[in-house]
Amino acid sequence: MSNDPIVRFNEVLSRAEESGIELPNAAAFATTGKDSQPTVRMLLLKHVDKRGFVFYTNMRSRKARQLEENTRASACFWWSRLEQQVRVEGPVEAVTDEEANAYFAARPRGSQIAAWASNQSSELLSRDDLMAAVESVSVKYMDRPIPRPPHWSGYRLVPERIEFWVGKPDRLHERYLYTRERDGWKISLLAP
Ligand SMILES: Cc1cc2nc3c(=O)[nH]c(=O)nc-3n(C[C@H](O)[C@H](O)[C@H](O)COP(=O)(O)O)c2cc1C
Repeated sequence: MSNDPIVRFNEVLSRAEESGIELPNAAAFATTGKDSQPTVRMLLLKHVDKRGFVFYTNMRSRKARQLEENTRASACFWWSRLEQQVRVEGPVEAVTDEEANAYFAARPRGSQIAAWASNQSSELLSRDDLMAAVESVSVKYMDRPIPRPPHWSGYRLVPERIEFWVGKPDRLHERYLYTRERDGWKISLLAP
């Protein structure tokens, strides 16, 4: 068991990928705006390193508006086949334009078009309106690379607490809490 939670997280994620679980990088991602109403939705983790956990989204979405009001967020991963859960908590920061550009450029063209066409979380009068916007973006960028929309980027969840939960018989599960301290990580064992 590693003393570094990111090393440990990568080990679990690799096992989840090898196990054939669908979307092993999917996480529930919770935010809260100034009204204190928590909201949670699934996102896909696109990168992780010692700086944190990176997710990409629309910067005008409901989650983005909440993160403007309150930068603190939480993510929860669950891999059923491994009986493991990981919870991450901390503030988010925006990724750099270079990181967002590189990731956007690697996305399928259809997803790039959708990033321009869909004003995520706003009310749509009809699906036809969305499809018309998709058509208009497709025509605009016909035969040309699609640049990253300025309102499409990523957040890095900078971990302050990471908890690893490992399922065990008789509900005597193991819970290892890593708490960030000035010079490293403190590891505590929590009761299940
Ligand atoms: C498995 C799964 C993965 C998803 N991944 C993303 C993602 O990486 N980025 C994203 O913006 N939305 C993703 N979504 C859609 C979000 O759950 C959500 O509908 C969207 O981001 C709008 O959320 P908001 O209105 O709270 O901002 C995903 C949904 C599912 C079911």
